[in-house]
Amino acid sequence: FQKTPDSAKQIANELVREETREVSMRVMSDPQVYEMEMETIFQKTWIFLGHDTEIPKAGDFVTRKIGNDAVIVSRAASGDVHVFLNVCPHRGMRVCGVDSGNSALHRCIYHGWAFRSDGSFFGAPVEREQMHGKMTPKSELGLKNAKVHIYNGFIFATWNENPEPFDDFLGDMKYYMDTLVARTDNGLEVLGPPQRVRIRGNWKTAGEQSTGDGFHTLTLHRSLMEAGQMGGSGDSIYDNAPAMYGQNISTDQGHGGRCIPPEMTFSAVMGTDIDKCSVEERLDRLPPPGLTREMIPQIYRHLDEGQIEVLARSPLQAGGLFPNASFVFLFAPDVNGEFVGLLGMHLFQPLGPDEMELYTWLFAEKDAPEDMKRRMRAVGVQAVGSSGVIEQDDTETWSVITQSSKGVMGSRGTLKYQAITGEHTKPADWPGPGHVYDGFTKDDTQWNWWVAYKNALAS
Ligand code: FES
Ligand code: FE
Repeated sequence: FQKTPDSAKQIANELVREETREVSMRVMSDPQVYEMEMETIFQKTWIFLGHDTEIPKAGDFVTRKIGNDAVIVSRAASGDVHVFLNVCPHRGMRVCGVDSGNSALHRCIYHGWAFRSDGSFFGAPVEREQMHGKMTPKSELGLKNAKVHIYNGFIFATWNENPEPFDDFLGDMKYYMDTLVARTDNGLEVLGPPQRVRIRGNWKTAGEQSTGDGFHTLTLHRSLMEAGQMGGSGDSIYDNAPAMYGQNISTDQGHGGRCIPPEMTFSAVMGTDIDKCSVEERLDRLPPPGLTREMIPQIYRHLDEGQIEVLARSPLQAGGLFPNASFVFLFAPDVNGEFVGLLGMHLFQPLGPDEMELYTWLFAEKDAPEDMKRRMRAVGVQAVGSSGVIEQDDTETWSVITQSSKGVMGSRGTLKYQAITGEHTKPADWPGPGHVYDGFTKDDTQWNWWVAYKNALAS
């Protein structure tokens, strides 16, 4: 970069080129870009950290990260969820060195300062001698708390003292996310701790892909189609091309995803007369992933008419939440070849310009039968877990793209988002909000992700 003047806006414009819908490959491994992201995007935006059913009891905690900063996500004695910096204010040691656990106090191993499960300072050894708390009041010796928002159990946090309201951050995506995570009386629960794997890839390779890259299923995941792992007949990739049709949706905040009519992949189950079927009949023929027929009445208590229509007609199957989370709510075959619903979330945790940690949580409705939960967990691990048949394809591209961007010539290249929908606009009878692109999958939702990235980077 021409670093003088070192303007964030100038760099952002150089990286994300709106005139031609191209993105500089440098974005995928440049250390300066990474530093900017940590200071802007990961300081200012709401960051997904996990689910509150991971820490159901007072004192339960998990350790995660916001950008480069280690944090403790903790259920305080009051029952509230707190997120605080995992850095001791005494001399900077990490306070908690394990992934998860339960403790009323977190005690620093270096000199023994102890902190309550809400991050506040509890005390230090030999405190009677008044070693601490005279020059700096004890009320100021706690672990720095982030702001926290819990959306239907999903924990988000930010260091921003004055963040945009969470509802503004989620924007029109809330309408669609509610159809996945806020549709039953008792909501979702995690099926165990997240799977984690380190990948030598930049977090954005995964972030941008998850916001609606439908194309790659035809080629990168071709072997899965041929093996009948993604619905369709499995005879050839062309039998699965209809699954490329549906609605790509995105919002001004950079969130996005793909809605696909179930008959595109499960035509035999949905029947040839599906066009004439009511919403109720559609839901009865193939309840959405994770729901039993008995649970269908619950969705009428929690979703409005339009949301239920989306769920029945063309449900959101996969998508991304800006900047570094994604979700999958779809069917995958179990070991017996039977299609089972799976509900999953990924987090693309940056570990540097060319490395990330991929987290995968699996979920089920709390009210689902135990046998269904067991099958959902098994199929989730098999499909989208660290060694899952789907994610093994994707993670390969993420690391290779990152490596490509390090070459002299590679770094001069661009990523191109020039498949434009043109005539493919929002259907007149589509009930949901946001930018809706009907028809064959195109680049718009991913491009909108990059525009949001550019704006956040320059902020
Ligand atoms: Fe934690 Fe000293 S660094 S008690
Ligand atoms: Fe994929």
